[in-house]
Amino acid sequence: MALLKNLCNFRVKKQYCSTRCLIPTISLLLLVAILAVSNTYFPFPTSKPRALSTWLSYSSFSSSSGGRRADGEACNIFRGEWVPDPDAPYYTNDTCSVIHEHYDCMKYGKPDLGFVQWRWRPDGCDLPRFDPAIFLSAMRGKTMAFIGDSLARNHMNSLICLLTRVAEPTTSWPSSKHTVYHYGSGYNFTVVSFWAPFLVRHELVDPDGPAHTGMWNLYLDEPDAVWAPHVQELDYAVVSASSWFYRPSMLYEAGRLVGCHHCLLPNVTDLTLRYALRMATRAALRAVVGGTVVLRTMSPSQYEGGEWNKDGNCVRTLPYRRGEKRLQGVELDFHMLQVEEFEAAEKAAGGGAVRMMLMDTTEAMILRADAHPSKYRGWTRHKGWMQEHFTISNDCVHWCVPGAVDAWNDMLAHMLLTSQS
Ligand SMILES: *[C@@H]1O[C@H](CO)[C@@H](O)[C@H](O)[C@H]1NC(C)=O
Ligand SMILES: *[C@@H]1O[C@H](CO)[C@@H](O)[C@H](O)[C@H]1NC(C)=O
Ligand SMILES: *[C@@H]1O[C@H](CO)[C@@H](O)[C@H](O)[C@H]1NC(C)=O
Repeated sequence: MALLKNLCNFRVKKQYCSTRCLIPTISLLLLVAILAVSNTYFPFPTSKPRALSTWLSYSSFSSSSGGRRADGEACNIFRGEWVPDPDAPYYTNDTCSVIHEHYDCMKYGKPDLGFVQWRWRPDGCDLPRFDPAIFLSAMRGKTMAFIGDSLARNHMNSLICLLTRVAEPTTSWPSSKHTVYHYGSGYNFTVVSFWAPFLVRHELVDPDGPAHTGMWNLYLDEPDAVWAPHVQELDYAVVSASSWFYRPSMLYEAGRLVGCHHCLLPNVTDLTLRYALRMATRAALRAVVGGTVVLRTMSPSQYEGGEWNKDGNCVRTLPYRRGEKRLQGVELDFHMLQVEEFEAAEKAAGGGAVRMMLMDTTEAMILRADAHPSKYRGWTRHKGWMQEHFTISNDCVHWCVPGAVDAWNDMLAHMLLTSQS
């Protein structure tokens, strides 16, 4: 994949790619886009009966030293390496009922479950594993929202599963794009999931389009109405997006067409997918008026040995070691622009009512090609046009639950609980 991405540098080729790289580019466009399409129609999680006696035991830990080095300096929890964790997993498909079929690798028979037994260890300090009791008590009376695409939901699934060791939520669906998990009986903690794959308002204007992934209108300065009217109710907003931006789109600002991404129209400037993600991220970060905003950086996809829709796969059984694999191409640009937009928004917020935090998971996740579902996940069959265009054999985009993605909640808990709100 990385190779394909390098073949076509969007930044250099302003208008659109030469024929030589058009094919790989379209493949790239299709790749993440399709995996995301599959999630448009949010199947409601089915309630599974679960045997209380099968709770996994887990070891407790001291949370006092997390994030501090011996000399008292705060350390960067996003720089580090993966080390064995023989105590993992802390839940399974049998003890957690919310795992979406796309991430349920245990149920779908991923053969080597060794990928679960690793934890992220930052350089120079310890990152304790998520403690559900401590987390819930800190979150009493609070509401936390996950705003984004299927990877935001992947993160949220992991959180709910980790909490399942202590408490079960009741679930409600105000709409097909809005799910609410409430922890009652004294916890009074609410987790909300908003389906907002572009963060901003969008509409499908052509189901096919130049890359067969649809043509979308994106209103880059209008935060998606799925979540924006709710910002006042949120104490924490965990914002993430990137994978849907590969799709061709027409870009609007102040209701006016300003350019496009991969529309291949001679009279419309190609501003590239980077511009679209940058502006949408900017709009989302500025839409939050209070509480804490956490921007999670892009999650890399990891196909090897072929293309995403052919024989490309992710079959590794061990994490890469530090520095063995690096972000490249569009993914590197996405990461950079997210950091830039975060810094700009933080500056703009300047000590006001909003607390801003960057959750830079990318460096950790680039090392975890072993932790994707591959073919071991459920897959809702598409009908008609979708079935014709998208036959995915291997998912190297999402993350198995339980698995490496649980580290996102180790990080999130650490970030929220060790800093003053
Ligand atoms: C969990 O996964 C196992 C296979 O590892 C399977 O036999 C079992 O039915 C799954 N449980 C649920 C509740 O899906
Ligand atoms: C739960 O928290 C909300 C704030 O999110 C608060 O308004 C409400 O009174 C709390 N309910 C209970 C039972 O403590
Ligand atoms: C670009 O050209 C097409 C076809 O010639 C036309 O339909 C469209 O309205 C034009 N768009 C703009 C923004 O000028």
